[in-house]
Amino acid sequence: MNKRTGEIEYPRQCGCECKEKGYLTATGNTTGNATGNATGNATGNATGNATINWRSGTVELLKSKFIERYGGTAQGLRVFRAPGRVNLIGEHTDYNDGFVLPAAIDREFLMVVRPRDDGHVRIYSANMKSETEFGLSSIEKIEGRWGNYVRGVAVRLLERGFALKGFDGVLSSTVPTASGLSSSAALEVLAARVFEALSGFVMDAVEQAKACQRAENEFIGVKCGIMDQFISRLGKKGNALLIDCRSLRYEHVPIPEGVRIIIVDTGVKRQLASSAYNERRAQCEEAVRAMARHKPGAAALRDFTLEEFEQRKCELPEIVAKRARHVISENERVLAAVDALRKNDVKTFGKLMYASHKSLRDDYGVGCRELDTIVEAARKTTGVFGARMTGAGFGGCGVILAKAEAAEDVVKRVGDEYEKMIGKRPEIYVCTAEDGAGEIE
Ligand code: GLA
Repeated sequence: MNKRTGEIEYPRQCGCECKEKGYLTATGNTTGNATGNATGNATGNATGNATINWRSGTVELLKSKFIERYGGTAQGLRVFRAPGRVNLIGEHTDYNDGFVLPAAIDREFLMVVRPRDDGHVRIYSANMKSETEFGLSSIEKIEGRWGNYVRGVAVRLLERGFALKGFDGVLSSTVPTASGLSSSAALEVLAARVFEALSGFVMDAVEQAKACQRAENEFIGVKCGIMDQFISRLGKKGNALLIDCRSLRYEHVPIPEGVRIIIVDTGVKRQLASSAYNERRAQCEEAVRAMARHKPGAAALRDFTLEEFEQRKCELPEIVAKRARHVISENERVLAAVDALRKNDVKTFGKLMYASHKSLRDDYGVGCRELDTIVEAARKTTGVFGARMTGAGFGGCGVILAKAEAAEDVVKRVGDEYEKMIGKRPEIYVCTAEDGAGEIE
């Protein structure tokens, strides 16, 4: 807390365009806040403990901010959290009815709330230092503002017939924005959890993830798949989550002891709404239309094997064939990766990560030099099992799986190499897999 201004202070503010656009801004380094070590303690379980320390410290600050802004006492204030995510493997498969394997991470949104009886919602973002306010009886979209994520969720829940209670809230986040770690999905899921708890209804977790996805598709206008909202809602500590994006059946898969997830942020801001993402979706649909002529009933790339693809690919435009090959092969990689993880075979898992990266870069065309630099630097470093780009691509983050005892060295070496090649030091987070969103106090 800044004694002079009374504002909550974080060690790092992202100064990117998301500020102007009114998106939430990443605050501080989860591990850095609590340990004073910018990359966290990579080898022990100190990152997990640091998160808890960070969380309880932040909750106290958010509570005082709440009282200062909205009055009253700390009595009866409720606290909710929702995590960002990293996808370990299974990229651009969710909107093709395929398989994904993300994990919820210890970068999260926190919100302190108090219900209101007049159907109004007011939320102050400590990151953005701005407030969003709307009435539940007439919800409109405001151009380019972070409050739209909350508004969109409210609209969806009301359409589903839930009677919603308004509230006052103060929130903050350590999920970097526009970095491919799903800050928008985390905020949507957070809003859904708050409305659910304060309004006194219980919503099935998968239905809730779907409602948040629809909010993003229809209210925000981004045609994302289900993965991000699903994992933010259904993540489990120490586990990755295998999701069948067609049936929406899922299974938690333990991440072996002694393995660390290291996220390297290129700082290259991804515009998910940009045409490239939607263009990839359209190319996948085009491939399905062409190949389904020989396989009636096939509705998505999920329905084709690589063998079937090889037989039909000459009928597709070259670029469409490449997109399809990525998705079909990626689905197979996810299932093989889960198999390997269950057998504690992290080496095989790592190889599949490298193959996924190559396929995303060469066939799906969503790579960039910064992401390649991370993966190549990781490949040269002892103790690394595998690395790949994570999220939509076009910038954002790379993810590395490494031996716990090597993590500190990996952070240093990859950071050094990235700086040498790209000319600036990347943010690097050593993460733990966490539970999905919910009430914590
Ligand atoms: C974004 C979308 C997800 C998914 C990934 C790519 O994160 O929100 O639904 O499509 O890109 O795997």
